[in-house]
Amino acid sequence: MTRKIMVAGNWKANKTIAQSVDLANGIKKIAEESTSVDILIAPQFTAIKSVADALAGSAIKIAGQNVLWEVGGAFTGEVAPFMLKDAGCKWAIIGHSERRQYFAETDETVNRRLKIAQKEGLNVIVCVGETLDERMAGKTFEVLDRQIEGAFKDFGRHSLEPVVIAYEPVWAIGTGKTATPEEADEAHANIRKKIGELFGDVKAKTIRILYGGSVNAGNAETLFKCENIDGGLVGGASLKAYDFALIIKAGVQVSG
Ligand code: PGA
Repeated sequence: MTRKIMVAGNWKANKTIAQSVDLANGIKKIAEESTSVDILIAPQFTAIKSVADALAGSAIKIAGQNVLWEVGGAFTGEVAPFMLKDAGCKWAIIGHSERRQYFAETDETVNRRLKIAQKEGLNVIVCVGETLDERMAGKTFEVLDRQIEGAFKDFGRHSLEPVVIAYEPVWAIGTGKTATPEEADEAHANIRKKIGELFGDVKAKTIRILYGGSVNAGNAETLFKCENIDGGLVGGASLKAYDFALIIKAGVQVSG
């Protein structure tokens, strides 16, 4: 089963509009030579439109870092699905651990965001991952199962096509500590198993599961080579075009 590798950059709350456009232009060149890999970037909301304009005609996909759980209306501080699409996004990241940790995101709100995003025609990357305490307590798989079940609650078997999952152990995000390829692959296999239980074998085999948490040019290839890892969701190392390009190259290398 071949799943196309995706390399996704999550810029978080970094970069001015001008810096974002510069970075996007830097990635544009490498993307032209890397068609065997799907490349996605998630700029901060204020830069999305400018980045989308800079990338017009490029295969690079653009994502919002979050999306409102309603079509729009009186939800101060949130960005609705139609606004993301209007600005040039076809994707949204949902349930990032920083949202869960700092902004009270729960499995239930992840589920609500996911449902509306799909209804409104956005593809999504759903993030899951355990904390260090949960891993130490031997609860990693339990937590991942709960997050996956929560995210996809009340989903029909046929509605999962545009979804990508990102496994991001919280203890590895921005810490320089990467899960070993074995640890990551084992968690990915567990997620795949759960998707199989919920949506059947075909979905389990075809869904892409990205690894996130201190992915860099040095470890990307080893991670991407793992049987159950289909690319990366990259934070810190996506903020420099050269570093991100090397990770894309790792994806190209692994794609053969
Ligand atoms: P990091 O972030 O690569 O800086 O660890 C990953 C993420 O949060 O998506």
